[in-house]
Amino acid sequence: MRIRDIMSQNGAVKRLDAINIIAFASHIGREEALANQHRELDGTTAERIARLLEERRQGKPLAYITQKKEFFSEELYVDERVLIPRPETELLVEEGLRILGEKRERRRVLDMGTGSGAIGTVIAKKTLQEVLCIDISVEALRVARYNARRLNVSEKTQLLCSDLFEGLRETVKFDVIMANLPYVAVDEWDGLMEDVKRFEPETALLGGKEGTEIYERFIDKLPSRIAEGGHVLCEVGGQRQAGLIGAGLRARGFSVITRKDLSGIERVIVGKWTSSS
Ligand SMILES: C[S@@+](CC[C@H](N)C(=O)[O-])C[C@H]1O[C@@H](n2cnc3c(N)ncnc32)[C@H](O)[C@@H]1O
Repeated sequence: MRIRDIMSQNGAVKRLDAINIIAFASHIGREEALANQHRELDGTTAERIARLLEERRQGKPLAYITQKKEFFSEELYVDERVLIPRPETELLVEEGLRILGEKRERRRVLDMGTGSGAIGTVIAKKTLQEVLCIDISVEALRVARYNARRLNVSEKTQLLCSDLFEGLRETVKFDVIMANLPYVAVDEWDGLMEDVKRFEPETALLGGKEGTEIYERFIDKLPSRIAEGGHVLCEVGGQRQAGLIGAGLRARGFSVITRKDLSGIERVIVGKWTSSS
C-alpha cells in the first residue's frame, strides 16, 4: 500500500492529522511523507498506520498518538499520563520570561503542577535559572523528567512529587512561582470536548466544585513561600476565576494584574509580593 492510497481512504480523519500519523508510524518527517506519496509501505507499517488512524477516528488526540506536542517552539514528549500542553499556557511562560528577564543572578523558580514539565523545562531552557518542578502525580513527573532530558536541561531542573508545598521544608521560598493547576469546575466538565474528557487525565483538569479549590489551597500557603519582591503567576479559565483568584491574592497582600489570551479570555494572573503590602 502507498501513502497516497492511505490518504485517499482515510475517511473522517483530517488530512493534516493523517499525514502526521503516517509520518510518525513510518519514522519519516511530515514533509518527506507529503513529498513521497507514491512510496510503497511495508505491511507492518501499513497495519500500524491503519490502527493509529482508527484511534484518531475514535477521538484520541493526535498528540497522544504521535507522542509529541510543540510548546513554545520546543517539541515535548506527551502521553496519557499528562495533560497536553495548551497554546494558552505559552502566555504564562512569556510572562515568566518577562519577569525573569536577562537576570544573571540566581532566582528560585518553581513550576507548580508541572505535568509534562512544559513550563518548567522551557523556562530552564530559555533562561539561566534552575527550576523546581512539583506535581502530585508520580507518573506525570516521569514524563517531565524525560522532557528535561530531551531539552537538555536535566541539570537545571529538579522534580518533586508533592501535594502543593507539602513535601518542601518550611523555610523554602521562591522568587518566581508559576502555576497551571487544575481549574475546571465540576459544572463545566460536561461542556468539555469529548476528546479531552475521554483521554486526558481528570486529575490534571478538575479543580473541584468551583474549579478554584486547589488554587485556593495554593494561594493560602503563598505568603510563607514567596520571597520579598517575588512574583506568582497563575493560569486561570476566564473572568470568574480571574476574579476569585485575583481577590484571594489581593486579600493576602499581593498586587495583581491580569493578562488576556489571544481570544480575549482572562488567562494569567500575575501577583507581586512585598512584605510591606
Ligand atoms: C492543568 S495540568 C498542567 C500541566 C502543565 N503544567 C501544563 O501547563 O501543561 C495540572 C497539573 O497539576 C497537577 N496537580 C493537581 N493537583 C495537584 C496538587 N495538589 N499538587 C501538585 N500538583 C497537582 C496535575 O497532576 C497536573 O499535572
